[in-house]
Amino acid sequence: MQETDVYDPAFVKSVFDRCSEKYIAFSYVASLGFTERWRRQCVAKLDKTTSPSPIAYDLMAGTGEVWPHLLKKYPDLGSITAIDLSSGMHRRAIERLHTHRAHRIDFIEDDVLASDLPDSGADFVVSTFGLKTFNREQHAKLAKLLARVLKSGGSFSLIEASDPKGWFLRPLYNFHLHTVLPLIERFFLKGAQDFAMIGTYTANFGNAAAFADMLRAEGLEVRFQKHFFGCATSVSGHKPDPVHSILRRNGHPVERRAASGRCLP
Ligand SMILES: C[S@@+](CC[C@H](N)C(=O)[O-])C[C@H]1O[C@@H](n2cnc3c(N)ncnc32)[C@H](O)[C@@H]1O
Repeated sequence: MQETDVYDPAFVKSVFDRCSEKYIAFSYVASLGFTERWRRQCVAKLDKTTSPSPIAYDLMAGTGEVWPHLLKKYPDLGSITAIDLSSGMHRRAIERLHTHRAHRIDFIEDDVLASDLPDSGADFVVSTFGLKTFNREQHAKLAKLLARVLKSGGSFSLIEASDPKGWFLRPLYNFHLHTVLPLIERFFLKGAQDFAMIGTYTANFGNAAAFADMLRAEGLEVRFQKHFFGCATSVSGHKPDPVHSILRRNGHPVERRAASGRCLP
């Protein structure tokens, strides 16, 4: 019998299409509220900006869970380009769009790795819990894409649930992920097995350290951080601004501001 490729975008799409109805509640309950906190921490890692109406890309946007955090941090945000593969998640995201923010969201329903996002179009790139459904080869493509779409001086932040290796409560965490969650799903979500896949993806993913190296290999400046004993890991940083670097190398005193208008740290 042929084995299912759980990283095939068509398979991933089908999982999230079926999950979309209950995704928001399940992700909150299953993580004991940590996902919201991690989304907030992920956005907090993006740099400040002086760009008058910056553009953010939200990759693997799901139902737009991170948008309230982005709009709170950047009240002058020009727009959010949100990409997600799943029509179910897209539909739920549209339902969640409040009138006052709908005109600032541009939702693209597509496989991010096959999308034709323009070069240097984003002041920020953010992604919350969208890394685990990719394998190593797809991570390398994603790192390339991120480096390409980010403006020079632009910043990025991505966070993902991870395997807290070395933590003494890891067996409890794994019991929650691989036993409790599938049971909750079986009894409360009519026997579906889709959320249980999230446990499989998380275990296979490990943590974001390898992805951090891939981003460095693309020329980005990267920070890797563990959250709550490694139950989540994040990668954040920025794309160096060549104009700024050249001026500094030639001994010119430079204002700490990128061509994009972004304040450099
Ligand atoms: C766990 S959800 C995360 C959703 C949201 N960002 C959050 O904070 O909860 C992962 C999302 O990634 C999307 N996704 C997975 N593979 C994708 C791909 N190749 N291209 C675009 N979206 C993808 C799924 O459809 C799903 O909505």
